[in-house]
Amino acid sequence: IKLKARMKGGRNMGDWFKRAVVYQVYPKSFMDANGDGIGDLRGVTEKLDYIHELGANVIWLNPIYKNSGVDGGYDISDYRAIAPEFGTMEDFDELLRQAHARGIRIIMDLVVNHTSTEHAWFKESRADKDNPKRDFYVWRPPFEGGVPNGERSVFSGSAWEKDEATGEYYLHMFAKEQADLNWHNEQVRQSVYDMMRWWLDKGIDGFRMDVIDMIAKPEEALASDGGPHRNVSTGPKEHLYLREMNREVLSRYNMMTVGETSSATVESAADYANLDGSELSMIFQFQHVSVDEAPKYKWCTDPLYLPKLKRVFDKWETGLYGKAWNSLYWNNHDQPRIVSRFGCDSDEASRVRSAKMLGACLHMMQGTPYIYQGEELGMTNYPLKSIDESLDVESINAYHELVEEKHEMTPEQMMACIRRKGRDNARTPMQWTAEKNAGFTQGKPWMPVNPNHTVINAQAQVGDPNSVFSFYQKLIRVRQEYDVVIDGRFELLMPEDEQVFAYIRDDGKQRMLVICNFSDRDAVLTADAQMEGQILLGNYDEEGEKRKLRPWETRIVILKE
Ligand code: GLC
Ligand code: CA
Repeated sequence: IKLKARMKGGRNMGDWFKRAVVYQVYPKSFMDANGDGIGDLRGVTEKLDYIHELGANVIWLNPIYKNSGVDGGYDISDYRAIAPEFGTMEDFDELLRQAHARGIRIIMDLVVNHTSTEHAWFKESRADKDNPKRDFYVWRPPFEGGVPNGERSVFSGSAWEKDEATGEYYLHMFAKEQADLNWHNEQVRQSVYDMMRWWLDKGIDGFRMDVIDMIAKPEEALASDGGPHRNVSTGPKEHLYLREMNREVLSRYNMMTVGETSSATVESAADYANLDGSELSMIFQFQHVSVDEAPKYKWCTDPLYLPKLKRVFDKWETGLYGKAWNSLYWNNHDQPRIVSRFGCDSDEASRVRSAKMLGACLHMMQGTPYIYQGEELGMTNYPLKSIDESLDVESINAYHELVEEKHEMTPEQMMACIRRKGRDNARTPMQWTAEKNAGFTQGKPWMPVNPNHTVINAQAQVGDPNSVFSFYQKLIRVRQEYDVVIDGRFELLMPEDEQVFAYIRDDGKQRMLVICNFSDRDAVLTADAQMEGQILLGNYDEEGEKRKLRPWETRIVILKE
């Protein structure tokens, strides 16, 4: 009876998300089942056993809806149809069935800040000023003959695009093919809720909500007043709309949600991800993946200064404790590969070691961990040769703006930045085997495979007790076996140390010590990080010294009483 009640609905019924380990699949680059060079849904179904073997119990699928091919599926033209390159609705239903049969839940990407300009709503909306769908999007008259205001697109250039049909401008916070929906329109919100219920009634288990902090843009940012670029995130009605969505949809299903909120702070997260379940289960904050960013834009990269990274995690772990729920991630389809970013990929031993260390550091914190495809193998950044090789609208637009228009960077400087930070790094095909195309496709892959697949691939790692894959399996098992990982308080040690990231988890019954060396040199532990206990997991075969960590070393220790 209890189980049935939990499945039926009601607020808070599912806090299963606290025990979830999410595996993120970027379908286009995961597995191609029909040889056309593009990953597809049947490919995901084929590889469910792999995900199951890793131990993840939720899959987040990047967008698989019909789209216009501009931004990796984030430009949706039909929310209720599968993109033909990914397969059919039957393929989706089969994937869902097969996943559920293995105890794996599936959450989908919900992209409702904007639609493709090829969406039927937009086609109607642009037709004429009196169209009933006109107000579904953000239309403004010109200001003094030009753009309504100085609002900038995240993907470079003005956020306003003139539409010849009516002479007005529509807003696009991303590519010009991605028109922003007007969430202040009640009908827009109801249409979105309908669509969400349609998928949930099909049996999906939740949503990852794309740029959800942008939906409630403050009216003044949208005025045709010639004003400057303003912050459109977390507008005054943001939480109002999410609470409405929660009442109308989320609270009626046994589901999990995670909002992508790059503007979130610990304070706003206490609302977004509050434990009474009136908004979202959790959010993705961006502060820890911004620590190596110079102030101006993501393209300037500062070297990692470890105390800064620790401060961010400490703030989130202690700030949300008992109030809201954290998500934990290093990677996704927008971020460079973590082993190339905060670890070391220049030699094989360091790559394996640092990939494990980074996994341990993240997975033993409080929150729901997300593993991005290939992270469990320690996949690395891609050695992009020139901008012509890039397939990412963000990188391409930024290159044109910063190199060709504004001359802020030389081509070489910009390419160095794109190689470090660009989104192509995450999107090269999954490396299954050492064979041709890494076993991803029998055809010609839509995007080049990283040449290092001959060394870094799933076939070589599954079953090898020393592989990164096996280490991630063990991390997941530790999480399942030790409640302290779920519930314990977080306490940072050695906050100012520039090499060591060390912390304790403590749930009143057990104490766990996690120590990580973020450098390629030996590191000395202070007394408070040298406690006696049982080592559950480490990344060196030979036991080391208690007061010293070797390069990239990590240890997870259950402390003696
Ligand atoms: C999110 C997605 C990203 C996409 C953007 C616009 O940040 O993760 O891939 O380009 O939103 O939808
Ligand atoms: Ca295919």
